Amino acid sequence: MTAPTANPLTAPVPASGDFDAAVLEAGVDRILTLFQRLHDAGALPPVLSQVTPGTIADQLPALPPRVAEPIETILGDVERIIVPGITHWHHPSFFAYFANSSSVPSLLGEFLTSGLNANAMLWVTSPAATELEERVLQWLWTAMGLPDATSWFGMITDTASMSTLLAIAAAREAAGYDVRRKGLAGRVDVPVLRVYCSEQTHSSIDKACITLGIGSDNVVKIPVDDAFRMRVDALEAAMTADRAAGMRPLAVVATIGTTSTTSVDPVPAIADLCAREQVWLHVDAAYAGVMGIAPEFRWALAGVDRADSMVTNPHKWLFTTMDCSAFWTRHQDVLRSAFSLVAEYLVTARDQQVVNYMDYGVQLGRRFRALKLWMVMRAFGTDGLASRLRDHCAMAREFAAWVDADPAWTLSAPVPFSLVCFRHAPEGMSDADADAMNARILADVNAAGRVFLSHTRLHGRHVLRLAIGNILTAREHVALAWSELQRAARAS
Ligand SMILES: Cc1ncc(COP(=O)(O)O)c(C=O)c1O
Repeated sequence: MTAPTANPLTAPVPASGDFDAAVLEAGVDRILTLFQRLHDAGALPPVLSQVTPGTIADQLPALPPRVAEPIETILGDVERIIVPGITHWHHPSFFAYFANSSSVPSLLGEFLTSGLNANAMLWVTSPAATELEERVLQWLWTAMGLPDATSWFGMITDTASMSTLLAIAAAREAAGYDVRRKGLAGRVDVPVLRVYCSEQTHSSIDKACITLGIGSDNVVKIPVDDAFRMRVDALEAAMTADRAAGMRPLAVVATIGTTSTTSVDPVPAIADLCAREQVWLHVDAAYAGVMGIAPEFRWALAGVDRADSMVTNPHKWLFTTMDCSAFWTRHQDVLRSAFSLVAEYLVTARDQQVVNYMDYGVQLGRRFRALKLWMVMRAFGTDGLASRLRDHCAMAREFAAWVDADPAWTLSAPVPFSLVCFRHAPEGMSDADADAMNARILADVNAAGRVFLSHTRLHGRHVLRLAIGNILTAREHVALAWSELQRAARAS
């Protein structure tokens, strides 16, 4: 066997003398090139990757290399093979779903997180990671205009789906059936547990209930009003009927900023009902929660201070790189008793004094995500964040006004934040024909690659969504989306 050649890159800890900084610079250069393209109207890549299924896989060998490859070759392949298969979430004309926005402070934060490679599982395994996470979530809570930051326990998870799973697990723990020890299967002493949310709620609620053994049949979808908000009268009626049938209302998930339309459920009235019924209230504000940073939008967060838990995603609309979901609960002890399980090798002398984040969720090892959020909040300041969020909402209102002024197009939902739901609906065209036409318009616009939008279904109709949330998005990009849509409508 031949001895492997010395390779400073793969040395256990590269000493500065051995390590070629040019390697890091080459990686950073690659990122800068990508960024520059996004600023250069002449060089913009298609927003939506134009490759067909299998194109990327076909270029990747079936087996890994036995012999080390030069980093230049690998980086060259990033450009040649990987980048064409990237849909550019950073792109100023990315209007689909909700943005996963990022920014330079966040990128640097990720870079440092990688460089430090800290595991934030126990306080002792990186005290700074734990203490920064606690503090930065207090900052964000207060920045959103919410009171009593220190009486809420905050933690960062990967996604809102995980945050909501933790919330419902805590609700199940609070209900007192000792599920963590006895499980649910075969129990005659546990009634059917019910979780309520509106019919506009994100599928992560169903997934949490599937995972936690509650069952998707026990996720009760409450009807909405004409502005897509949960109807509290219907919620109350559903709970009453369930109790009469011997079931146990466990939790309500209210949404601030639903996925399809960004509607805001009436959280204060839902909180009243949950308090009367002694039911856990979780607020899913994955997209719109951060809007509380701008004081004139704090109406949307009314009632959150009376919830039991809440999630918002800095990785959606707070210029923080994927992934970073902020989760809070008022019941730190309940969350802890749902998840804490300390193997002997993880016991430390500090356990009574500190937070060990591994005690509050499924995973043991945890990324140091607080660093990038801290860097974002400091580099922008809350004023800087608020002004960018406001700009996005103003652009959405302007786009909505263009739609509204054109008789061939119609708005499909109110526009409280930075999402516009709309549809091409020329006079005299049947709903079914308009559905097909809107699907064609969307396919045409996205295939052209200059902008990327997505769709939803409202009242059974095919509706287009333009969601603004990228830091690079300016009025000209929104105007481009409008002209692309009109071009595609003429061609359809
Ligand atoms: C309201 C809402 N909740 C939850 C989610 C899920 O977010 P994540 O991808 O972080 O799990 C989304 C995603 O768009 C959402 O819009």
